[in-house]
Amino acid sequence: MAKDDNGAEHVPAVDSSSVVRVGAPSGTAVVARNSLENPGFAPHRSRITDTNPKEERKAERTVYTLFYVSVAGSIFAMFAYFAFPITAEDPGSVRLNNLFIGLGLALALLALGIGAVHWGKALMSDQEGVDERHPVRGTDEVRARAVEIFQQANEESGFGRRTLIRNSLIGALIAFPLPAVVLFRGLGPQDQDPVALLKETMWEKGMRLTLDPSGTPIKASDLTLGSSFHVIPEGLAEMGHGRLEEKAKAAVLLMRLKPDQLNEADDRKGWSYQGIVAYSKICTHVGCPVALYEQQTHHLLCPCHQSQFDVTNHCEVIFGPAKRPLPQLPITVDAEGYLIAQSDFTEPVGPSFWERS
Ligand code: FES
Repeated sequence: MAKDDNGAEHVPAVDSSSVVRVGAPSGTAVVARNSLENPGFAPHRSRITDTNPKEERKAERTVYTLFYVSVAGSIFAMFAYFAFPITAEDPGSVRLNNLFIGLGLALALLALGIGAVHWGKALMSDQEGVDERHPVRGTDEVRARAVEIFQQANEESGFGRRTLIRNSLIGALIAFPLPAVVLFRGLGPQDQDPVALLKETMWEKGMRLTLDPSGTPIKASDLTLGSSFHVIPEGLAEMGHGRLEEKAKAAVLLMRLKPDQLNEADDRKGWSYQGIVAYSKICTHVGCPVALYEQQTHHLLCPCHQSQFDVTNHCEVIFGPAKRPLPQLPITVDAEGYLIAQSDFTEPVGPSFWERS
């Protein structure tokens, strides 16, 4: 039994002629008739804002104040965009920029939402009404007339008859959005092949794994069982221009498990070091950083759309919209015990793209 806003209980309205068949062999007529009366609406109860003009004005003030707060939040977000610019020299600027823009937008949305709800609850009419459902299907005459109109339009426009015009129009409509695709090319560097850029990262043989963001090299002995580190390639922290672009591809998560917990394929047995494995941090769905490691289950979680990857099984996808496992970075240690890459990733990192194969 459902309750409405006023606490009154309702039985769902049922037509007295409705019939419910109770599981019975076909041919037998075991039938139960449900003849509950439709109780209709509970008596309408006036709100305080319906009866007290002072309260009504107060509610009105609250609503427009919230809407003005929302305006202030939006203006603050725009102000934050200019006041906290993202600079290549300072990676922390991304955090500040996102934080203040996010705060402004959150305030704007929250105040807008609360204001709208308060408006609806306190000031808009709360009288309940019945809107009878009309049949969706048109009458046979209406349907026949609609077909007639389409046929007439087809005849008059010559769309079906003039095939050259029709096909060229379809071609023009398909071609029209293509320039937008080409314009995306302008987002990448002009002097390099963007596909090659997506396929390679700055990892190379012998490059040390270092802590993000300090750039401190990591020894295998620094990793305790169950720990995970956010890792960037050696030299990235000191890079100037292009550092963020490189980091967006080369960021890695490093985890240490017991060696017997890893189900390594034969061709990858040499890619880990004493249970230490390194995987791309860039989600294969749409490229968010996969930042949450659950050390009990050995699952990595992408916070954007909840894709989960199983570290014990080459980071294969066990849940969510991602379609490919996270690429693994083959690692080992150098003579001083520092973790180093054996090579670049052996496949492109991040989301799929057309030329990926
Ligand atoms: S970006 Fe990771 S699940 Fe969507």
